[in-house]
Amino acid sequence: MKVTVVGAGAVGASCAEYIAIKNFASEVVILDIKEGFAEGKAMDLMQTASLNDFDTKIVGTTNDYSKTDNSDICVITSGIPRKPGMTREELIGINAGIVKDVSSKLLESSPETIIIVVSNPMDTMTYLVHKTTGVPKNRIIGMGGALDSARFKYRLAEALNAPISDVDGMVIGGHSDKGMVPLISKATRNSIKVTNFLSNQRLDQVREDTKVGGATLTKLLGTSAWYAPGAAVSSLVHSIACNHNKIFPCSALLEGEYGLSDLCIGVPVVLGKNGIEEIIELDLDTEDLAHLTESAEGVKKTNSLLTL
Ligand code: 2OP
Repeated sequence: MKVTVVGAGAVGASCAEYIAIKNFASEVVILDIKEGFAEGKAMDLMQTASLNDFDTKIVGTTNDYSKTDNSDICVITSGIPRKPGMTREELIGINAGIVKDVSSKLLESSPETIIIVVSNPMDTMTYLVHKTTGVPKNRIIGMGGALDSARFKYRLAEALNAPISDVDGMVIGGHSDKGMVPLISKATRNSIKVTNFLSNQRLDQVREDTKVGGATLTKLLGTSAWYAPGAAVSSLVHSIACNHNKIFPCSALLEGEYGLSDLCIGVPVVLGKNGIEEIIELDLDTEDLAHLTESAEGVKKTNSLLTL
């Protein structure tokens, strides 16, 4: 199993590290355009192999796509991250060109690869890859909801004063500060609805804290987060690589599901060896469906800024 990660920045390197530690891949290639940067990150990570007990070979390359040949899965993290006060959507001008170029080069080297898009604005970047490559829709996946759901569970556990292992919850919709849809009504604490434990006021706070989870960290860190994004990507890669058929909310091209079409937005999908094996249509209550529809309008508005 060969995985390529484009972008040796904090998110890409964290993703490569978590993939290596899970020890299911034979090789992880990290590619960056900055001279020596990916090679340095790969060497540093390889020097943790004996300490973190993994056999995965991590290789770095400065913009040599031949090193990525025949990758089973390619992760695109390249582009600029947001600064405090910025929205993800403001990155479209620079990142769209980068993502279009990178995806084209990756497919030249690995025509059958599954692509996972992380670069922001992620839903629009995922849509861009669909529109510019023509790759079957099951092989193009946007990572956002897995990260947002992890933040949702963190906030729920905090509010419940419960261990995160007891909490389950999912965020669907756009990976944007305003467009996320944390599914409060479906969240549970050990199979018991969280609405049994928390007031509407406290749940509203959980919802809002989740939606700005990325911005909160960007304000604290001065740049986008990287540990949880990297971990979220590695979880998607793991399910695909090992054909686990796990369910994650991912940005997928919709063609009528949830009454939505011609956009990529976060919905629950089954991830297996073929990438998106199935899009799951949840039975959403009126409020959640309205929020998803509203979120889709926001994503489409950002998509309209693309020059395809
Ligand atoms: C985040 O929410 C980088 O969009 C990513 O942290």
